[in-house]
Amino acid sequence: MNFASDNTAGVAPEIMQALLKDAVAGSQSAYGADDVTARLEARLSEVFETNLRVFPVATGTAANSIALATITPPWGSVLCHEFSHIMNDECGAPEFFSGGARLHGMQSEDAKITPDMLLHTLERAGGHGIHAVKPASLSLTNATELGTSYTPTEVKALTDIAHAHGLKCHMDGTRFANVVAHQGCSPADMSWRAGIDILCLGATKNGAYAAEVIVVFDTDLANEVEIRRKRGGHLFSKMRFISTQLEAWLKDDLWMNLAKHSNQMASYLADGLNKIDDVKILHSIGANMMFARMKRSKHNAAQLGGAYYYLEPAWQKEDGNSEYVECRFVCSFETTKDEIDHFLEVLKIDK
Ligand SMILES: Cc1ncc(COP(=O)(O)O)c(C=O)c1O
Repeated sequence: MNFASDNTAGVAPEIMQALLKDAVAGSQSAYGADDVTARLEARLSEVFETNLRVFPVATGTAANSIALATITPPWGSVLCHEFSHIMNDECGAPEFFSGGARLHGMQSEDAKITPDMLLHTLERAGGHGIHAVKPASLSLTNATELGTSYTPTEVKALTDIAHAHGLKCHMDGTRFANVVAHQGCSPADMSWRAGIDILCLGATKNGAYAAEVIVVFDTDLANEVEIRRKRGGHLFSKMRFISTQLEAWLKDDLWMNLAKHSNQMASYLADGLNKIDDVKILHSIGANMMFARMKRSKHNAAQLGGAYYYLEPAWQKEDGNSEYVECRFVCSFETTKDEIDHFLEVLKIDK
């Protein structure tokens, strides 16, 4: 009964097998000049139906920070949501990699930025002229940190405004596969056709061991991404083993199948939670993650029963007094219906 995160899951067997096979396949050029990485770029060009450049890295924080530093100068700002991972969970890495750029968080209940919010922020940003930091980029997380998601049309409306103001557009696509599977759109529709210049495509949370890839649609940015990746310590000498994971992930639609499974498990869990008294789903579900408000006594019963998930915000754990708590549940490619049924039974024991 582990709903803590999709990175508590293991590695998809197809990906592990590809790693084992490549491990004994002989030597290859180092630092990304290998056949697997070249094939990966060609494969991603097919998947995204366009010319692009790809830069594999090992963590989402590195991907986001290298990408954002490329499109944001030290005197610039990244316009993002106040709940975004880049603001709250990357220990200042985007600021560090960019040499001091500011992250400007916008506020809303569902973790999504709207055109009005963006326009308002841009209008206010100009007020202090030379004295103020200069908005340089827009960062959208899709799926969001609250498990909601943007449609391609919503993304396009935001990137149109951003581009009209001279900003570049980044997407934190840690759960991009889940969003594409949920929305039933193409990867191209959710990214460059919707105005995204640079995408951090995550595989670790969806079956890989450690593999993320910076996908550069605005290929003028590629040279700088390459230099920043080296300088940021993410040019792996045995790059081919990151690329192998990504190649296996994309093969035969594995990435979509894994994402569909975790999304289906999330809806199954949500349906079950909805039928239990004193449990309320908090936001619309746009991928494989959801938030629910439930009675603390139910949460206590779940803990005793061995369920594992986070309270968000985390301070509720220490508080201990409030009658209700807010919980985050994430399903992964490994989540099973049995696991969910068992969890729901445990919750029902507490009346
Ligand atoms: C929205 C989002 N972006 C980026 C990341 C990347 O994190 P990491 O650096 O742990 O791979 C995560 C991981 O939790 C995430 O949820």
